Amino acid sequence: MSLLISPSILAADFANLQQEVEMLNSSQADYIHVDIMDGVFVPNISFGLPVTKAIHNHAKKPLDVHLMIINPNQYLEAFRKAGAEIISVHYEACTHLHRTIQAIRSLGAKAGVAINPHTPVSLLEDTIEDVDVVCVMSVNPGFGGQQFIENTYAKVSKLKELILKKGSSARIEIDGGVNLTNAPKLKDAGADILVAGSFVFSSSDSIQTIEALKNL
Ligand code: DX5
Ligand code: ZN
Repeated sequence: MSLLISPSILAADFANLQQEVEMLNSSQADYIHVDIMDGVFVPNISFGLPVTKAIHNHAKKPLDVHLMIINPNQYLEAFRKAGAEIISVHYEACTHLHRTIQAIRSLGAKAGVAINPHTPVSLLEDTIEDVDVVCVMSVNPGFGGQQFIENTYAKVSKLKELILKKGSSARIEIDGGVNLTNAPKLKDAGADILVAGSFVFSSSDSIQTIEALKNL
């Protein structure tokens, strides 16, 4: 099966957001990855609801919203209304993860759980059957353009094993430092969705870069 590609709009030119979204519309991207950072859960602030809504107004691809925020429960409905199709919350930010997953699904969105590089895959053993996406962070969240953490391959293989063992239909998404060097190995390890920010937006031909990732 071919990979699903979710370019991260965090690396786009924010002064020309409509143009950037239209570029993604005309590409082979499957989703648009939207990184929400609150300056508390992660040491950076990105943007919030009005910008997400503005992206959605021009997007022809579903929005894959990655909430790097504390208390995500408080904002699930608002992000769903702003156009989120997938809503991923962080394992590390959810005291009652199972309840949060149910809340996302009850809004009609796909439920994603993101895990930081230090969080073992085994902690998802009791929720894997209830989630639609596991977002494996291959950098410490907070910034685009960081270096890919090599331990991710082993983590993806373990996660794939867990998914198969439990008969879960969860998809594996990789987020951070993805490029054409690590993407084939991630695919072999079991990845389904690749997020790519700087690699797509800083390339001279973003549409072609998306195509190259898609057709690995
Ligand atoms: C990191 C974000 C990522 C980031 C990916 O905190 O969650 O989605 O935008 O950007 P690159 O591909 O540049 O690492
Ligand atoms: Zn992200």
